[in-house]
Amino acid sequence: MKAVKEKAYAKLNISLDVTGKRPDGYHEMVMVMQSVSLCDDIEVTLNSGGIKASCNLPFVPCDERNLAVKAAKQYFDCAGLESGGAFIRICKHIPVGSGMGGGSADAAAVLRALDKLHGGLLGREKLEELAASIGSDVAFCVAGGTALATGRGEKLSALPALPDCFVVICKPDFSISTPELFRKLDSVRLRCHPDTAGICAALESGSLAEVARRMYNVFEDVPDRRHSAIGEIKSSLLDLGALGAVMTGTGSAVFGLFDNEDKAKAAREVLGRDYRSCYIAKNVPEV
Ligand code: C5P
Repeated sequence: MKAVKEKAYAKLNISLDVTGKRPDGYHEMVMVMQSVSLCDDIEVTLNSGGIKASCNLPFVPCDERNLAVKAAKQYFDCAGLESGGAFIRICKHIPVGSGMGGGSADAAAVLRALDKLHGGLLGREKLEELAASIGSDVAFCVAGGTALATGRGEKLSALPALPDCFVVICKPDFSISTPELFRKLDSVRLRCHPDTAGICAALESGSLAEVARRMYNVFEDVPDRRHSAIGEIKSSLLDLGALGAVMTGTGSAVFGLFDNEDKAKAAREVLGRDYRSCYIAKNVPEV
């Protein structure tokens, strides 16, 4: 039986802006997104016994609540293979509930794997379309690299690649519910927004420092008692030599960009004394 292995790369928000609420209840987003080398490992095997999944983490559901299972079902439906079956093995390394899109990355990896197993039957464009119906961040995770995401987060345009760098990611010991934070945001008047155009220009000119100093996430401005931990991690990352630091997505992970590997390693080490979930990663230019 043929198996295809795929890396499900985590995504980070270099910037995250919310510009309005839509009639469908979702929010209008403007985000600069980046894939990083911290990843889950996905293996997909075709079978005739329906869609089944396993995961190394016992608390992760392996039924249709799992976006990877949902993705496989959507793939087979879209490809006209309604009786198709697959076994999906998920080995998670991306912390759950961190704002790094682990579930979305797994779903995207399943779409890529299934399309490889079917000789490119749907192709990239169709996969990205299908991905958007699974979750707002799944389309980005299919494409990867550096991109501007608008709409619900599913409309993508490729950006010049982030200059090579080291990323230190630290997740405090709590998770933040995405729908809850979006709800809280509705009652807040946002006063500051990221300079998205400035970030795009800095990417164009290849300046990591100019990108890093503009990193901004409006969710950090939503009052939440847990956000003091976010501020502390950001300050530590900056003190330890990060060119910029910001929370990713709806949190709770925070990351800093470094142009120096030794400083990044030292920062991970120092933060690792206080936080269990600390990682060092690299930018991934394309998936
Ligand atoms: O699309 P996805 O299922 O990933 O979104 C999870 C939740 O996040 C939605 O149910 C919604 O509450 C919120 N959301 C939003 N606007 C977006 C994306 C997500 O309000 N653009």
